[in-house]
Order: sequence, then C-alpha cells, then structure tokens
Amino acid sequence: MCGIIGYVGDRTALPILIEGLKRLEYRGYDSAGLAVQENGKLAITKSAGRISVLEQKLNPDLAGTTGIAHTRWATHGAPTDANAHPHTDATGHIALVHNGIIENYLAIRTYLKQQGITFHSETDTEVLAQLIGHFYDGNLEQAVRQALHDLSGTYGIAVVSADEPGVVVAARRGSPLIVGIGRGEHVVASDASAILAHTSQVIYLRDGEMVTLTRDRARVTTLEAIPVAPEVQEVEWSLEQIELDGYEHYMLKEIFEQPTALENCLRGRMDPRNGIVHLGGLVDCSRELTRTKHIILTACGTAWHSALVGEYLFEELARVPTETEYASEFRYRNPVVDEGTTVIAISQSGETLDTLAALSEAKQRGALVLGVVNVVGSAVARETDAGVYLHVGPEIGVASTKAFTGQVAVLALIACYLGRRKHMSAAAASEFLAALARIPKQMEQILDRADQARAVAQQYAQRENWLYLGRGYNYPVALEGALKLKEISYIHAEGLPAAEMKHGPIALINKGMPVVFIATSGSQYDKIMNNIEEVRSRGGSVIAVATEGDRDIARCAEHVLYVPDTLEPLQPLLTSIPLQLIAYHAAVLRNCNVDKPRNLAKSVTVE
Ligand code: G6P
Repeated sequence: MCGIIGYVGDRTALPILIEGLKRLEYRGYDSAGLAVQENGKLAITKSAGRISVLEQKLNPDLAGTTGIAHTRWATHGAPTDANAHPHTDATGHIALVHNGIIENYLAIRTYLKQQGITFHSETDTEVLAQLIGHFYDGNLEQAVRQALHDLSGTYGIAVVSADEPGVVVAARRGSPLIVGIGRGEHVVASDASAILAHTSQVIYLRDGEMVTLTRDRARVTTLEAIPVAPEVQEVEWSLEQIELDGYEHYMLKEIFEQPTALENCLRGRMDPRNGIVHLGGLVDCSRELTRTKHIILTACGTAWHSALVGEYLFEELARVPTETEYASEFRYRNPVVDEGTTVIAISQSGETLDTLAALSEAKQRGALVLGVVNVVGSAVARETDAGVYLHVGPEIGVASTKAFTGQVAVLALIACYLGRRKHMSAAAASEFLAALARIPKQMEQILDRADQARAVAQQYAQRENWLYLGRGYNYPVALEGALKLKEISYIHAEGLPAAEMKHGPIALINKGMPVVFIATSGSQYDKIMNNIEEVRSRGGSVIAVATEGDRDIARCAEHVLYVPDTLEPLQPLLTSIPLQLIAYHAAVLRNCNVDKPRNLAKSVTVE
C-alpha cells in the first residue's frame, strides 16, 4: 500500500519524482524518500512525514536523469527516516523502493546477518535491497531476478544501481506496477496518476514479470528471463478517476478492497494445516498474555463493534473472561484492572483521544496493554506494550469498512493464538484457520452480487427509521449495519440483539418499516426466524442476510441477501458486507456526501 515512481530519460529526474510523489500522496502516506543517480553515486534523501518535509531536505541541484522514489504507508517498523524507502545494500550502490509485504524476510535477514551484513532499519524491504546487493556482480537485472526467486510474499519494486547509469529495473508480484512510455523516457509507477502527466501510453506489468528500463527501451521478461511482448495500452481515465480507481467514492472502493485487504491482513500469519497462528507483534508478551485472567477490549465507534465480536471470540476460543468497554467510559469510571488483566485497544487511526486515554488509564493500573491498529507508528501503537497491525492499507472514507473486517480478522487470529496456548486443540484451530483463509474469496462472491444490496437501498432509502437485528456473533454486525446507515445517509437506525426487540423497540414497527435481520445458519437460526415472524405479523418489511442455500427464509423475507457459509464466529466478516453496501447506496440515493458525512471526522482527536 505504498506509492512508487521511477524515471529514466533525458530530463532532470528530481522534479519529476517529486511531482509523482505528490500525485501519490492522496492516499495519506507517512514518509517518503528518493534516490537519484548522480556522478557515479546514488544521492538518497528520506524523511518521515509528508512530501513537503522531504522537499525541505533535498538538494535542489541534483541534476541526475535517472531515479526512483517512494511514499510509504508503514507496515513493518514505524514511519521514521530510517525506515523510509529507498533502502540500500551494504555498499550503498544499490537502492530499492518496495510496495508489498515480504513474508520470509526474517529468514533472509538471519541468513544475511550470518554473512556479516548489518541492517539499518526494521523493514522487510531492506532485506530485499541487501539480498540484491549480495547477488550483484555487475548485472542489476540478474541480481534482482536471483533475489526475487528466494522471496515469498508480495512486491512491486523499482531498483537502481550507481554502477549502471540510465537503468531502472522493476518487478511485480501482487502489487501493481505500470510503465509509462514517453519520447526518449520511461516512467514506472504503482499508480497511473503518477504517469499521466507524462504520457498516456502504458504497459501494465503482470504478476511474475519484470522490466528493465532505459531511455529508449522497456524490456519485459518473466522472472525466469523469458522475453514477454508487452501490450501497450492507452489510459483513458482522468486523474480523479484514477485516484478512486474507477469507483465513485472511496467508501465503495474500500468496500471492494476488502478481499485483498483481508489477504494482506492474514498473509504470513497463519498455518491452517498445523493449526498455528504466527503473530510477530505478540512474541515478546506471549507468556504474560497466555497467563491473563481477564481481557478488556476498549475502542470507539466501529472499532467498538469489532471489539464486541472479539469478546465472543476470546471467550469461545480461548475461554478467557472478556468484556468490551467504550474507551470514553473506561477512562472515567473506576474499572477493575488488577494483575492478570490485559487491555486491548482497537483503533483504525491509532489516534482517537478517548482510546488513548483509556490506554493510559489501563497502563497506570498495571495492565498489559496491547494495540490492534491500522496506522503503523500511530499513538496507540507507540503507547502499547505490543500489538498486531491490521495491514489493510489506508482507509480514506470516513465511514469505516475494511478496517472493521480487518479488526475482526485480527481479533480472530489473536483469539486462536491464545486458544492454542490454552484449551483449543490443533484440529479445532486447523478448522478455524482454514475457514478464515477462505474468507477473502467468499467476500468476492458477495461483492459480485453487490447489485442486490443496491436494490434494497432503492426500495427503502426514503424510509426514515430502520431496525437492524442479529444474535450471537451477528449482534455486533447489527450495530455496525445501523451505524453505517446513520453515519452516511442520516437515516435513523437502531441495532439490537434480536431478542431485545420485544422489550421495547417492537413498539416502533409499523407497516413497511425496514427491519434488517442477520439470519445466517447456526445455533440461533430458529430463534431469529421467530423474531422475523414477530416483525412480519406487525407489517414490517423484512430484509434478511442469510446463508446461501437457505430457501426457507425466502418465504418470509421480502429481500434476501445471501452470503457463503462459514463458521459462526467468522460470519461477521461476511455478513457486514451487504450492510455496508446498503448504507452506501442509500446515502448515494439521498445525495449525501458519502466520503465526508456531515459533522463527522475520520479520526476524533478531541473529547
Ligand atoms: C470516528 C470515525 C469512526 C471510527 C471512530 C474510531 O468516530 O468516524 O468511523 O470508528 O472514530 O476511530 P478509530 O480510528 O479509533 O478506529
């Protein structure tokens, strides 16, 4: 989830690289850097913060005409100068920028350390730069090819060597790279927005391909060195369309990104066959965590809903008493936090003031404090003893979507990690993790039918009151579905545990009132079917999210949005998606500002 740009041609590279970085910055990056070939050396400048901070550090006289640059969204290591890209090999003659996650970086790092190589950053990327340097004997393309063979994970990379003027080597697996073909120049970038100012003729590099760029030539080969005849295409999108990747809003883009985001979140963290969860961020506190007697999950907004799912997961899989508390409540009451208490703060931004205050309260009382955070190096990440990042990439839409599913997935991993250290059998963990591994594909199936959610929104978008009801793991999903609708379409909606309806809210139900039931198969299916009847008999319009193959429900609901079958504890990862889509389409139909709803902020850093 980082931005890459590289240039080779006759023009001075520096302004082109800076302009390209600025085009990529819209995603909200946290550090940046560049390398320019200059008189047989590489001039490298890097900086934490925005591109403007980098600009202040640069030598404006750099005249080299070949270079690479990067804006980073941190995944391994905090957003510091040292962790910013480019990274170099031991000689400082090879520089590399990288987008993606290298899974086996620890093994390669250990090997290279044994060869006497010293590392200067905490990143997975530096490992690749050092490995290329390790193989380099005068042919950059060859060294890159060799290094990539030893790599598992995802990457889009661009590499330069001080010893090969006018050459940029780039390669991809899993992370996009586009080559722009100009007159007497080539630009390579992770995003067409950085290319469009120079040319609209592009080659989309495919997975497993690499390209060696010089002023006059773009030579595409496979990783096995087989030449590829690339297809040159014309980009027809405007810059704004590109930033949105063709979607009308960031929220919709982020909803559709969920399969990939979840793959990134899970990558390298589980071994379903052996029922093992690897969470590098918890290694240092693993003993203390395993001995914990009491877990408190604390968060705000959508993150609080994922915490509620986490509570059920922790109690079921790890059998540890767990409670979920709004951060704003936790910080001001007198919570019982004693020895053996673990407090886990969940936050997309890692900057929410109430969540930070709750953390500091928990710390003062001696709890082990952990973070489940998306933004690497954010305040929650810094203030906690340990934690697990979401790795779902930047979330720009104010209404949280992919961060919610990322949080649930991470909490599922932690619950399983803890469970295996307590009562959970390897076989049960295997089954659980195999089901988790299937989720990204199942999300895709739901998104393939996104039109069905739009049809629901079309029918009910003008109704001012909605109810969302669910049981068990889907009770927090009901809360989240209602919150999404409130946030962006300004419709009044309430989420409830389905059985609570009869204790008051049932009085609200009148003819045609939309009532969304999350009624997937599982232990509470029959109960929720009774609740559906209660709504129907009072004239309410039932919209059901149900498990594929459930024909019975179609007889009592006006609309059914099907999701694939999975284990009950993992259902929120699927059932939340149709509800995100309903909220999105309702907001669009009501002409609301989807990405920037009124009165709301992406990150609430005030009380
Ligand atoms: C704001 C946002 C919500 C978000 C909440 C917590 O209210 O509008 O979408 O869920 O903050 O944010 P965090 O960054 O801590 O997850």
